[in-house]
Formats: sequence, structure tokens, C-alpha cells
Amino acid sequence: MTSDDFRAAAHTAADLAADHLAGLTARPVWQPMDDAARRTLLDATLPATGRPLDELLATVGRDVLPYPMGNGHPRFFGWVNSAPAPAGVLAALAAAAMNPSSAGGDHADVHLERAVVRWIAELVGFPHPPGGGLLTSGTSMATIVCLAAARDRAARAAGWDVREDGLAGMPPLVGYVTGETHSCVRKAAELLGLGSKHLRTVAAGPDGRLDPAALRAAIARDRAAGLLPFLVVASAGTVGTGAVDAFDPIADLCAEERLWLHVDGAYGAFGVLDPEIAHRYAGLARADSLALDPHKWLGVPVDCGCALVRDPAELRAAFSLVPSYLRDEAAGELGWFSEYGTEQTRPFRALKVWATIAHRGRDGLAADIARTTALARRLGELITADPELELLAEVQTSIVAFRLRPAGPTDDTALDALNRELPAAVQRRGRAFLTGARLGDREMLRACLLNPATTEADLVVLLDEVKAAGREHTG
Ligand SMILES: Cc1ncc(COP(=O)(O)O)c(C=O)c1O
Repeated sequence: MTSDDFRAAAHTAADLAADHLAGLTARPVWQPMDDAARRTLLDATLPATGRPLDELLATVGRDVLPYPMGNGHPRFFGWVNSAPAPAGVLAALAAAAMNPSSAGGDHADVHLERAVVRWIAELVGFPHPPGGGLLTSGTSMATIVCLAAARDRAARAAGWDVREDGLAGMPPLVGYVTGETHSCVRKAAELLGLGSKHLRTVAAGPDGRLDPAALRAAIARDRAAGLLPFLVVASAGTVGTGAVDAFDPIADLCAEERLWLHVDGAYGAFGVLDPEIAHRYAGLARADSLALDPHKWLGVPVDCGCALVRDPAELRAAFSLVPSYLRDEAAGELGWFSEYGTEQTRPFRALKVWATIAHRGRDGLAADIARTTALARRLGELITADPELELLAEVQTSIVAFRLRPAGPTDDTALDALNRELPAAVQRRGRAFLTGARLGDREMLRACLLNPATTEADLVVLLDEVKAAGREHTG
């Protein structure tokens, strides 16, 4: 392949991407793939010989791009999946062209990662000593990284070297979460050998926020039983309702009890940029660690999470292992990123973060986020004003939890059955996309607003679609 061949194909690829993005709103948000299209991908045979780039691009245009998840569309409200920031899409190509391992060394990607991790900390107002964080695949991985540091610190304080001795024989370390804590925390606890039964579910108030009095009581019970409380996980935006915990009283208690406070800000931490809701995040900066996802509200193309820690030495103590073949005599004081987390070969995530933030600037990002929270509050108002709908939680950030409650007598079981069916029914209709979950003992619909291109008219379509799908269901 000549460099001219590559250049020509790259121009075609740019056209494909631009056409895809420009055509999104004119298409259904999502459609099930027809059998033939699905089989084409599933049954693709291993090619014995190569094909030219222009043929591959034609295949991408015909067999891949027409079948998106839907999350680029302004009426996609499912899970927590954003539209890609255009600057981030462009940066992905340049990053792949360089293809470094951002583990460490003196090359642009490594220095840019140090800068963007600092930018992320500055955006959310988290303290950032040099070395106090790194980019990860997402918050699931950032949580593993932060909880490993928390675990090792607590074990050290109890006279145990987990890296050397493992956990066997130690009194159980106990962490505290709420029923709304994301499942990645439990996965991390299981993976780190803590045992999910040692994650206590603490009561939350009606606003979905962790109850500090219940937390205090749970810690006292565990201490009395000879266990070692070590961790509290608070949320800067739960995945179910977008609730933000009251950090100050939790941080006070963690300081008093010498517990590690970890905040899951995957979805919601960047909400602090909206002056209208910034007050909800008071005390966030007091956490020992914060996991958050540039690949959610900022729209950085997947994958990109970030782990931030108050004390970089805690991360390095948990992860640093430098065998002779990775020695770098020229490494500065901070060493390599690979000493602060699990990955050795690391992708160049920093360029798409840099491009996304630099393109919009802090003010542009804040305006985009404020737009989505304002729209979420508006959606809450529309739901409250509609007798067929019921708002199930205060709109604290940009997630709206609600359910369909058609006129006429309907018991809770029937309402649950109806609302459980609705997300898939709405998705199939193709005009809007939302997902569901359980909230306490009820089925709910949840709409997560992340796309600044969404309009109020899109919200009206969403609610019309929910009601239309409900009518289909009830016949
Ligand atoms: C609140 C919350 N925490 C954690 C996660 C997990 O993050 P990731 O999917 O980036 O691993 C999510 C994902 O949606 C989330 O919403």
C-alpha cells in the first residue's frame, strides 16, 4: 500500500464518518437488525487473502454504519451513552496513526495524558497533586484501581501486606454502599477478594441519598463484631435516578472513622459544571478517590474513564511493579502510568479527551451540560403535568425516572408488568430510545439526557412514544 492509497482511503473514511453523523437525525433512532444483515456480520469468514482498503470501506458503509446503537441521535435517552464529540472522533484517527503505548516514557501522548487528567480534575474541582490519576477504559476499571488502593491502605494500617500475603487470614474489610450504587462497585469488591457480603447496603433517604446516620450505625455494628470498616462509596449521580449524595456529612464521618471515601462520578461528576446544580456537589473534593467517565457527559468517544486520587503514593503502592525489561532510567519522579493501574500497554486516550475539551472549552462544556439538566427538569415538568405519567424521583441532574400510569384502575403488579415491557416497545418503534430499571420495588422508565442537540420537541416525542407503546401493550 502506498501513502497515496492510504490518503485516498482516509478521505473516503472521513466522508463515511461525516455522512453517518449528518444523517443520524433523519433515521430511526435504533432498529433491530434484519436477519440477513446480522448473519453477514456473525458468519463472516476468516479471509485467507487481503482486500483493498476501498473495498473494506465500502463494506463498513454497507454492513456496519447503517446499524448503530442509536446513541448519536438526539432522541436516544437510554442507559448512560452519549453522542460522540466530533473533535474526539477526529482525534481518534490521529491517535491510531501514532499508536503509542501510553505506559510511560518521553513522548507526546504521555505528557498529554498528564495534562488532560489535570484538566479533568480542574473541571470537577478535585485536588490534583502531580501523578494523582490516570485514564482508564471506563469507571468500572477506575473503580478497581481506586478500591485496590483503598484496600491496600486499610490492610497496611492493620499490619497486613496484601500484595505479599493476600487477604487470607485477615479480618474482613467492610465497605458501605447504597441500594442504588452501580454494580461495578460490587464487581470490583468481588475481584479484589473483599467479598460482596462485606459490602453493606446502607439505607438511603427518599431523595436517594445515602443516610449518614444509618452509615454511622452500620460502621459501629461492624466494629463491634471485630470487622474492619474501610470504605464508603458515595455517588455523584446514581445510574438509576441521578441522585447526588450529600458529601460533606459522609466525608466528616469518614475522617472521624478513618475510612476511605470513594465517589462514583461516572455519569454525574461533570454536572458540577452547571451553576444551577453545582451546590449539590459540595464536599466532593474531600473524597480520597473519584472515578468518572469523560466518555459519558463530555461525549469523548468510548473508551475513556478516569481515576483521580488525593494521594498518588497510594496508587503507586498498590500497583507499581517494574521488572528489569521495563526499566526506564530516564523516567522522572512520577515514573510510568503503568505503575499506577492495571494496564501495561495503554492506548492513547488522551488525544480524544484533549480534543473534546479544547474544542468546547470549559465554558462550552458547562453550557452543554446545563442545557441537558434544564431539559431534564423540563421533562420532569411535562411528566408531572400529564395525568397518564408519574414522576418517580426528584430530577437532581439529567436523569428522569418515571412510569406510565394509564387512566382507570390498575394495580401495582399490572403497572410493573406494563412498565417493564415499555422500553423494548418504545425502542422497536424507532422514534425514541429509553431504558428501564427497578427503583425500590417498582419498575421505572428512565431517560438520561446527555446530548446537547436534544430539543424540547424531542422530549414531547419521547412521552408520546411511551404513551403510544403503552396503548399497543394494553390493546
Ligand atoms: C453511575 C455509574 N457508575 C459506574 C458506571 C460504569 O462505568 P463504565 O461503564 O464506564 O465502566 C456507570 C455506567 O453507566 C454508571 O452510570
